[in-house]
Amino acid sequence: MPRIVTLPGDGIGPEVTAAAVQVLREVAPDVTIEEHLIGGAAIEETGEPFPTATREAVRGADAVLLGTVGGPQDSPWNRLPRPQRPESGLLALRRAMGCYANLRPVRVLPGLEHLSPLKPELARGVDILIVRELLGGLYFDGDRRLDGDSAHNTMRYTRAEVERVARVAFWAAGQRRGRVTSVDKANVLEVSELWRSAVQDVHGRKYRDLTLNHEYVDSVAMLLVSNPGRYDVVLTENLFGDILSDLAAVIPGSLGLMPSASLGDGAGLFEPIHGSAPDIAGQGVANPAAAILSAAMLLRHGLNRPAAANHVEGAVARALRAGPTADLGGRASTGAFTDAVLDNVQVMSGA
Ligand code: NAD
Ligand code: IPM
Ligand code: MN
Repeated sequence: MPRIVTLPGDGIGPEVTAAAVQVLREVAPDVTIEEHLIGGAAIEETGEPFPTATREAVRGADAVLLGTVGGPQDSPWNRLPRPQRPESGLLALRRAMGCYANLRPVRVLPGLEHLSPLKPELARGVDILIVRELLGGLYFDGDRRLDGDSAHNTMRYTRAEVERVARVAFWAAGQRRGRVTSVDKANVLEVSELWRSAVQDVHGRKYRDLTLNHEYVDSVAMLLVSNPGRYDVVLTENLFGDILSDLAAVIPGSLGLMPSASLGDGAGLFEPIHGSAPDIAGQGVANPAAAILSAAMLLRHGLNRPAAANHVEGAVARALRAGPTADLGGRASTGAFTDAVLDNVQVMSGA
């Protein structure tokens, strides 16, 4: 029997994770679900953002479903030494699980173009997969320091780190429209020069039947929202991918529609890309779609249950057509939207 660990975390994390768990229980009743602490919630209970009990629970799991971590800007958590803050707990989790490839799909489903602020002809049919490197670059390099009026972080990648995430991007492109756009800043950064050369090598060795092109990150930021239809798979480094994926959330209409799957050599980690949304936490209005769609990615990539994943995605699309949450201009509460998804799941399975 598969075992899933859920880590609801902070802010709207527990609200949207509860919704995703309800859906998982409906479509995968045989799966064991075990909840553990992460982030600020873990700091409050144990003094650590990624406690040993969580680390151990995650080690034996078949997949992990995360909510969100982090407090508001003025939270006391943000005054702790950096390694003890909620966000560091999440980074430690990603590293412990070895999840180096973060898949962030951006889709405008048929009949949902009206939720996009873009002109319908630009939004229609958008289907992009951002593949974000998740364990390298500025986020993880040990050469970092804040020292009075001087501070530095270091962007460093090895060829092997670039190659392994590039292979994931080409593998994904092979199952889609066959086009990879590798995004860098090779006109300025040495790291990007290495990135380009490593991606080029992987392409030349094994994926010559796929199309590869290279674009600069600043230009991609503009083209992504002005002409999203030109992209299939977008491959990029950690920080660029973080920023571009929040920007890309504008295309479907909300961060609340953006799920993700983080894959590596072991079990996968599945999480919405949005944060803990302190401005709406506790009000019952958060959009749980990103969390529910992350659960669908867990079914597909974590448990190899593509039919159940499709089923959940279909149910979310129907619920969105019927009545979205406030972030998308609708009136559905978190609970009402989740109930609509559950109803659709049952209808579609003939229950
Ligand atoms: P955020 O993503 O939490 O919120 C940005 C805006 O989007 C807010 O207006 C918020 O209300 C809205 N929003 C986000 N998700 C939504 C949803 N599901 N439904 C409706 N509206 C939604 O970003 P932020 O405000 O910059 O960060 C808040 C905290 O979250 C910080 O502590 C940050 O470090 C943390 N964070 C965590 C993660 C994560 O756990 N993966 C990701 C990003 C930010
Ligand atoms: C995300 C978040 C995280 C990141 C933070 C909270 C560490 O913004 O998942 O996109 O930057 O990776
Ligand atoms: Mn982010």
